[in-house]
Amino acid sequence: MNPLTGNSCPKVTIPSIQEKKQRREAITCLTAYDYATARLVDEAGIDMVLVGDSLAMVVLGHDTTLPVTMDEMLHHTRAARRAVRRALLVADMPYASYHVSMEEAIRNAARFVKEAGAEAVKVEGGEKRAVLVERLLEAEIPVVGHIGLTPQSVHRFGGFKVQGKSLAAIEQLMRDAAALEGSGAFALVLEGIPREVAAMVTRHVGIPTIGIGAGPDCDGQVLVLHDLLGLGFQPPAKFVRQYANLRGIIGAAVANFRGDVEARTFPAESESYHLPPETVHELQDLAARGSVR
Ligand code: KIV
Repeated sequence: MNPLTGNSCPKVTIPSIQEKKQRREAITCLTAYDYATARLVDEAGIDMVLVGDSLAMVVLGHDTTLPVTMDEMLHHTRAARRAVRRALLVADMPYASYHVSMEEAIRNAARFVKEAGAEAVKVEGGEKRAVLVERLLEAEIPVVGHIGLTPQSVHRFGGFKVQGKSLAAIEQLMRDAAALEGSGAFALVLEGIPREVAAMVTRHVGIPTIGIGAGPDCDGQVLVLHDLLGLGFQPPAKFVRQYANLRGIIGAAVANFRGDVEARTFPAESESYHLPPETVHELQDLAARGSVR
């Protein structure tokens, strides 16, 4: 029995995600940032819902993920929490929420669990996050690692550029993956790296790898929901498969509404409320006596 769904639909848990790797079953993950989309993603049977800091770009209109704040991430995680029943709910720790001190990082991560109902947090970075991951686990906060094209490193990388292309960079990625696994991360997002490198990492770690722009050999795949739905305003990246054109659909719906209002065909009679007949009669009597016009 799933206490969140009240039925037998099994809740996705960290062990069940890890068992999927053992069984070689693909793990599915999508971002969602509000009640409606998180509910649709959960009801479609996706394993993990990530309240990603991509929120900064696709919802809040920033150029990078860097400006999004703890308060904004908490606000959106709470909305997703109200929707998600089956999937594992993971919250992204925003830039500068875990970079200043260990104490502040643990306090911020705990807010996602305690105040917003997240079941795990995600942090970007490899070896340099190993101690943080250990400390978060000591505080009972499960962690997803994230290496490769980590968007919070955009300025250091000089743009959103594919990583892990040189031998030295590949060796570093392997060390990063091993360090995160060794420190207890339960899964690893691999973003923007060559397929061959993602496959090597996936073979060498015991924890599931979840790829985005990392080819088909990862244990699972994640996409930003707005990219998948065609709700973006930039040309999609090479790795995005767009399953719908919601921008076109929403644009057409809004234009139709505008046209109907301007033509005075909306609202129709059937879309209007009416007074009860007795009140109509009372009004007519009052009008006849000159009390109302
Ligand atoms: O914020 C996000 O959407 C992410 C995914 C790209 C993994 O971190």
